[in-house]
Amino acid sequence: MKKFKVGLLGMGNVGTGAYKTLEMNRELIASRVGADIDITKILELDVKRKRDVNVSPDQFTQNPDDILTDPEIDIVIELLGGIEPATGFMLKAMENGKHVVTANKAAIAADFDKLVGTAEKRRVMFRFEGSVGGGIPILNALTKPLLANEYTEVLGILNGTTNYILTQMAENGSPYAQALSDAQAKGFAEADPTADVEGHDVANKLSILISLVFGARVHPNDIPTEGITKISMADIEAAAKAGSKIKLIAAAKRENGALEYSVKPTLIPFSHPLAGVSNEFNAIFVKGNAVGELMFYGRGAGPLPTGSAVIGDVIEIVRALRGDGR
Ligand code: HSE
Repeated sequence: MKKFKVGLLGMGNVGTGAYKTLEMNRELIASRVGADIDITKILELDVKRKRDVNVSPDQFTQNPDDILTDPEIDIVIELLGGIEPATGFMLKAMENGKHVVTANKAAIAADFDKLVGTAEKRRVMFRFEGSVGGGIPILNALTKPLLANEYTEVLGILNGTTNYILTQMAENGSPYAQALSDAQAKGFAEADPTADVEGHDVANKLSILISLVFGARVHPNDIPTEGITKISMADIEAAAKAGSKIKLIAAAKRENGALEYSVKPTLIPFSHPLAGVSNEFNAIFVKGNAVGELMFYGRGAGPLPTGSAVIGDVIEIVRALRGDGR
């Protein structure tokens, strides 16, 4: 059976989830794809961390060029997080003819044109399904089966950590700090959870959605953004008395040719479908002029849901390389 070799940059929560997804479904994936997919090398400093996967010490390297310039490696998965050195590594991998998969929303939102442009120039595939909505295949839906539509609006809950915190505060009376530390322990939060609770992670994701939905580049710093750090238990109780939940909502729409966008805590009536989206789940509404309204729902954070999206991207690349358009 043909073998495809993959290099992994970063084995934190999501890197471990991607590795685990491939490990637990290896035979199933091989039978579906008609090829073996192997993560052969892993760039990671923390080789001692206990991970619930079978990884041998000689798979680890501390030298990025062992992966980025290895002619045997077909696909590079970047899961380091942050803008640099992640972006430089992805560009170098592309320059060396490697296909790239990432879930790094900060890097994509900051340098969308450069990353997509370099992939086009070097004729390699660049996929980033795991960057928005964790395991929800929203980017695939927007860029393939829904492409016949003109989109008019996209909105939703795009951060698992903050949705988990707001849910735990509202439903279990958990203090904010406790809920945040639980979200970190479950592997939902960013390395620096400030990005989650201040709304920057959602702004990155909304920036990516705006690129794909409206074909417009809006830098995340230009998206009016408010997180959840000012939300108190009293606010949540007052919202409940008024028949609403507080949710961190990202929204973008085009009206009369003008784009409007924001990230902010919003009162959602109990009767609204978004009010039922709890814990680390995300939901994304899209409006298209042919399809009407659609809602996508699933786990928006966590090692395995995001790992599912990452390995799904790898599989799509392998199938394309094999000329398998079924
Ligand atoms: N920290 C992110 C979240 C991870 O909580 O949604 C998934 O992008």
